[in-house]
Amino acid sequence: MNSISFIGAGNVAHRMAIALQEKGCIIPHIWNRTPAKGAKLTRILNSNLPASTSRNAFGAGLLTPVPTGTPTVCASSLTDLLDSDMIIIAVSDDAIPEISRALAQQVHNAVLCGENEHLPIIVHTSGATDISVLDSLKNEGCKCGVLYPLLTLSKSRSVDFKNVPFLLEANDSKTMNALKKFCHILGSEHYECDSHQRLMLHIAAVFSCNFTNYLLSLAFETAGKEHSLLRPTTLEMIRKSFSQSPQAALTGPAKRGDMMTIEKHIKTLEEAGMTEHSEVYRLLTHKITERNKR
Ligand SMILES: NC(=O)c1ccc[n+]([C@@H]2O[C@H](COP(=O)([O-])OP(=O)(O)OC[C@H]3O[C@@H](n4cnc5c(N)ncnc54)[C@H](OP(=O)(O)O)[C@@H]3O)[C@@H](O)[C@H]2O)c1
Repeated sequence: MNSISFIGAGNVAHRMAIALQEKGCIIPHIWNRTPAKGAKLTRILNSNLPASTSRNAFGAGLLTPVPTGTPTVCASSLTDLLDSDMIIIAVSDDAIPEISRALAQQVHNAVLCGENEHLPIIVHTSGATDISVLDSLKNEGCKCGVLYPLLTLSKSRSVDFKNVPFLLEANDSKTMNALKKFCHILGSEHYECDSHQRLMLHIAAVFSCNFTNYLLSLAFETAGKEHSLLRPTTLEMIRKSFSQSPQAALTGPAKRGDMMTIEKHIKTLEEAGMTEHSEVYRLLTHKITERNKR
């Protein structure tokens, strides 16, 4: 598998395309709903192409960097992508069904015209979306699968894909082997799981990642300028949760049953007009107390 095109130019497409290119893969096409954003990712990929230096034709001795390798093209039509070995659909979850159907129509037309003997493997990258969303493509003869990176990815932060576990699902063993090869290229760990297991892990990641992030924003606001003082205790709790268990890592007034401290905390938040903070404090304290009783 050498050529991998992307539908989408958001966080996932951005990080994966750059990482794959660095590993020597060709990214022939990027297609994006908003062409300007697709063009931006295309420019970034092309500016990253390895350059060799050659003699300038007019000035002997001047060395001009010349990009080598295959440049990426910002596709104007989904049909352009069909020559790739793999197409990664990295669009918002809600857009995957519509994109799959549109791509299936292009595959159908290409097959009718006898244009594409070799059809690409087509995958999506969503944790919460069933593999069956790609059935219209499977029915046109495409090999389909899912490549879900279980890490928060953003355009602004580069990641080492060695630290990104991928959850893989495929409609057949040959496609699964191709997905494993994909992970091998990036040096990533991979785990096979079905759509339901992936969904449960996605929900779990919302708890561990998004909800923790929300609580951190409440904590930062409560601490004010001194919020960096929370870093050691927070990191120690996370480390302990993973090395032992969340239950073993639990401390604090709700765990100890210090009711006077709890009342004092809530009263202080209410007096400061921090209604959201006091509501969340009250709810979570109640849930922790109930869990402790069990
Ligand atoms: N970010 C993560 O941490 C992460 C991690 C694992 C998996 N995922 C999954 O990866 C996929 C992409 O996530 P992301 O974070 O890269 O998303 P994102 O940064 O929000 O980008 C969304 C992409 O979807 C396109 N899009 C949205 N609605 C569309 C529509 N109706 N038709 C066509 N294209 C549409 C956007 O195009 P425009 O530029 O035109 O808006 C953009 O390219 C999702 O399935 C997500 O669940 C994300």
